Amino acid sequence: MTVEVAQLAEDLIRVGFFPPGRPPDYRSAAVAGEWEPLARLEPPGGVRFEVLEPAGAGIGDLLGPPLRVVMPRREGERFFGCGERTAGLEKTGSRQIFWNYDPPEGHTASLNNLYTSIPFVLSLAGGVCRGVFVDNPGRVEMDLAKADPGEVVYETATGNLVYYVFTGPTPAAVLERYTELTGRVGLPPLWALGNQQSRWGHVSADEVRSVADGFRSRGIPCDVLYLDIDYMDGFRVFTFDEERFPDPAAFIASLAEDGFRVVTIVDPGVKVDLEYPVYVEGRERGYYCRTFGDEEYRNVVWPGLCAFPDFTNPAAREWWGDNHAALLDLGVAGIWCDMNEPSLFVPAQSTMPADVVHPGGGEPRLHAQVHNLYGSGMAQATREGLARLRPDRRPFVISRAGFAGLQRHALQWTGDNSSWWEHLWMSLPQLQNLGLSGMAFCGVDCGGFFGDSNGELLARWTEAAVFQPFLRNHSQMGTVPQEPWAFGEPWESICRDMLLLRMRLLPYLYGAFEEASRTGAPVMRPLLFEWFEDEVTYTADDEFMLGDALLVAPITRPGIEHRHVYLPAGTWVHWWTGDVVAGPAHVLAHAPLGRPALYARANAAIPLWPERMHTGEPVDRLTLRVFAVPSADVVTRELYEDAGEGFGPSSRRSVTVDAEAVRVSAPVGAFAPAPRVVEVEVVRGGAAVVTEIGDGAAEITLR
Ligand code: NOJ
Repeated sequence: MTVEVAQLAEDLIRVGFFPPGRPPDYRSAAVAGEWEPLARLEPPGGVRFEVLEPAGAGIGDLLGPPLRVVMPRREGERFFGCGERTAGLEKTGSRQIFWNYDPPEGHTASLNNLYTSIPFVLSLAGGVCRGVFVDNPGRVEMDLAKADPGEVVYETATGNLVYYVFTGPTPAAVLERYTELTGRVGLPPLWALGNQQSRWGHVSADEVRSVADGFRSRGIPCDVLYLDIDYMDGFRVFTFDEERFPDPAAFIASLAEDGFRVVTIVDPGVKVDLEYPVYVEGRERGYYCRTFGDEEYRNVVWPGLCAFPDFTNPAAREWWGDNHAALLDLGVAGIWCDMNEPSLFVPAQSTMPADVVHPGGGEPRLHAQVHNLYGSGMAQATREGLARLRPDRRPFVISRAGFAGLQRHALQWTGDNSSWWEHLWMSLPQLQNLGLSGMAFCGVDCGGFFGDSNGELLARWTEAAVFQPFLRNHSQMGTVPQEPWAFGEPWESICRDMLLLRMRLLPYLYGAFEEASRTGAPVMRPLLFEWFEDEVTYTADDEFMLGDALLVAPITRPGIEHRHVYLPAGTWVHWWTGDVVAGPAHVLAHAPLGRPALYARANAAIPLWPERMHTGEPVDRLTLRVFAVPSADVVTRELYEDAGEGFGPSSRRSVTVDAEAVRVSAPVGAFAPAPRVVEVEVVRGGAAVVTEIGDGAAEITLR
């Protein structure tokens, strides 16, 4: 066996562990760019590299022996991240499995792995943060001080064990380097941060139209409507059913007139049908996965018998991407990649057998070796296709499955949760761990997918989801309707108010996305991201930061309107009452329906836009709201602006608030916003004073 250790950057070390007979190979679909070693190092002391027995006869020989690395646990080390998981934020004392699959209904804590795999773990010991990323798209397991509290173990089932160690020392530094290695989220189009509505079972254009009308007639904001599998002709991808959606272009254009974009689902399974050009073309060009005996690999999904594109083949990816012209030419704005673990029906909710062959355009690999890449490959093909077909627009792709690096290609939603209070709770640690794993753009089905939601659950869920990166209400066919108005009053008004608040917060949220695209900092951040020396934050996982300046603590149980909130060091101002709290402090927040526990960092300027129904409506006012506290820290924040679409110029202004004044700089950068009022709103003791400023530098005295 070979073990190679290389320093790639001052805070980044790469370790390559290769079984006997295999030459070193660092090629990776997860890693973005080229990394040349700065220096070769000696293998670390105290770390054991073990070659295990291959998993039986047959293809076991081809897959090679499983490998294991055992390293000592740092004193008091605690573990977080690991991508999409169930249960809470902290993973200390657990065994984590990285193997994408479509799990059974009801994601309880007894399940571990779900649809995506990001074998990246972030740990803290004595306030010093580290990260380890195991770069292997086959099955990976991590034992995080479970079997032996003194040890941490990484195992790969096939291939090589290449891992990267990030030495931090802060969570921000680890995330910055990790997202330099595996890529960062692209800045999404602004409309993708608006409210989105979906439903499996809207079987006709008329049904979708009536949902659109429901939003507009009730004055509830919405930017995006989704078409689930119901729109397709016999579930053939890249087609529309001619009877139920007779004129898709006209239908999508009429929705656009009312400010809605349309996103369509696309599944990887291509219906085996000799009359269907997409299938025939993929077959003629040899783009599908093959059986070990070299026949087209087939399994059943919604359309019946399907073939599955081999996304490890660059030519197949290009072909798949180009096929999206059929949808984009009709006016579709974005693509939702589903079932891409891949999820198969025979046997139910299974995935591809280990010995399926991915021909890879000349470099064949077995499915077991590349399993976790299937979703990322589909997302990559889709994103690149959209970018080629509409080069002046930011691609919008949502994916259920993927591997580390998925964030470069798509946002991730966490699949089929349930309309349970437990899943509203779980969405908080789950999305925070995704944020700690590079997936800054992520979300859950608001209101819950399986089962019947209800008014209080939807209202409380909306109170949480409007502060999360991706905001989409989605539910399963056959469950009770779940639109914001579905349960009548008072729930409808609460949902409306919350969605209007989301619209107000968009410039703040957009700034957090810009930061994520530049530094890898999560949009939705666990408290430990900033207060990593304060161990109380390690378990405060039912609250979170949105960006750097807003702390959100949702209610996740029925029938209550008070909850405990931990406010870390700093000065916090209650959003609704203006009450000032000096942290660190444990407080009991009163959060009646419609007034979620929301705290702003004192002296942080929060940019706000007016309430709107969708992001296409003009913005005539930009408000910089400052909860001013003279005794609190001086805070400087940046205001980032651009056109919200395309790749044109941007501008930045800094806003500094101290005990004396609010100082706003002139913008730097070529972006010229449409004419609007710019104002500073200083809130003190619950009363607000508004001063208009222009687009130049301004200073507002606070005395
Ligand atoms: C599974 C997805 O997770 C879900 O969101 C979708 O509604 C169904 N497939 C049907 O397409």
